[in-house]
Amino acid sequence: MSCNLGIALFLLLCFLRRGAPAGDPSSEKSALLALRDAVAGGKALRWNRTDPSPCRWQGVRCENNQVSELRLPGVGLSGEIPAGVVGNLTNLKTLSLRFNALSGILPGDLGRCAELRNLYLQGNKFSGEIPATLFGLRNLIRLNLARNSFSGAIPSGFNNLSRLGTLLLDNNQLSGSIPAIDLPLLVQFNVSFNRLNGSIPLKLRSMTVESFLGNSLCGGPMGDCPNEENNKKNKLAGGAIAGIVVGSLVVVVLIALVVFVLCRKRRTRRSSRSVDIASVKPPLENGEGVVVKREVEELKRLEGGEMRLMELRGRGSWCSLRIRAMCLSWRIC
Ligand SMILES: *[C@@H]1O[C@H](CO)[C@@H](O)[C@H](O)[C@H]1NC(C)=O
Ligand SMILES: *[C@@H]1O[C@H](CO)[C@@H](O)[C@H](O)[C@H]1NC(C)=O
Ligand SMILES: *[C@@H]1O[C@H](CO)[C@@H](O)[C@H](O)[C@H]1NC(C)=O
Ligand SMILES: *[C@@H]1O[C@H](CO)[C@@H](O)[C@H](O)[C@H]1NC(C)=O
Ligand SMILES: *[C@@H]1O[C@H](CO)[C@@H](O)[C@H](O)[C@H]1NC(C)=O
Repeated sequence: MSCNLGIALFLLLCFLRRGAPAGDPSSEKSALLALRDAVAGGKALRWNRTDPSPCRWQGVRCENNQVSELRLPGVGLSGEIPAGVVGNLTNLKTLSLRFNALSGILPGDLGRCAELRNLYLQGNKFSGEIPATLFGLRNLIRLNLARNSFSGAIPSGFNNLSRLGTLLLDNNQLSGSIPAIDLPLLVQFNVSFNRLNGSIPLKLRSMTVESFLGNSLCGGPMGDCPNEENNKKNKLAGGAIAGIVVGSLVVVVLIALVVFVLCRKRRTRRSSRSVDIASVKPPLENGEGVVVKREVEELKRLEGGEMRLMELRGRGSWCSLRIRAMCLSWRIC
């Protein structure tokens, strides 16, 4: 009897679990409370701990009973975001903690928020390198890390964020050169007031000067790089190649003109030409000689039929035959 009751209770529990909404607001609630305890000291945020769901809390928005937005701009948050907190809000699409006094490195588990579209962390005191964990957030569209103390190089991992339209990194302490960022949807880009040097990558040179202020950058809107004279040399070389091509064309046209004039002259001196052919030396007695001999025979045949061909085929054919005959005679003599 008690056994049956136990089974019934078990089945009821199973049914209830299945029937529950997809979200687990209590887990997200505990993550939010842990965040508050760490960075707000319980002062700034009047989140009612006894609410069963955090969905009505200040700055929190839910979709399908899951936290999809957390917006706490300028509410005096300070201190470091502990690990294992933000990463538990796996349904976040927007996280805005801009203009607070948050410090320390960005927690690595931020990379678990795979649904993130918008990440606004500008105007805090975050430091350390831009963590590689960000480059797993493939849905990111807007990323603002401006006005912090991020240091180190700008990682080329940004190229993994193929949907990125806004990337703002200005007013940090980023150093080194800008990697070859090539993001087709990028429209807003700012790395002003860092410690960057070197040349601006080609795909970013369409941005304005305002994107690169306060660095030691060159190229594109910042003017030519001193070490990019190679490119100019290449351009000159390109001009030289064009010159050579045009020059060659002129030479070819000149040669054609000379041949044409020769053709016309020789046409008027046909009889003397026949004498030249007749006095050709006998061919050599080697393999090549046989070929040359055959060519001489052909030449003689052509000379014989010259008049007839001229009448039959017109001037053009005659002229091309003459050119061939000239070539053959030059080879022999
Ligand atoms: C985050 O989730 C992990 C496991 O999923 C859990 O152990 C941890 O307590 C959670 N953190 C918070 C602050 O709720
Ligand atoms: C907190 O929530 C509980 C339950 O929803 C409610 O009874 C209580 O009055 C609330 N406290 C405040 C300060 O709003
Ligand atoms: C970027 O994507 C490539 C290929 O998808 C992957 O191998 C690489 O680890 C990613 N880089 C980062 C920093 O996530
Ligand atoms: C950029 O600055 C670093 C030192 O901060 C230096 O080692 C490097 O050579 C510089 N690169 C260029 C291209 O000027
Ligand atoms: C980039 O940031 C700097 C400093 O905040 C600002 O002066 C500049 O106008 C910004 N550039 C663009 C393109 O918005």
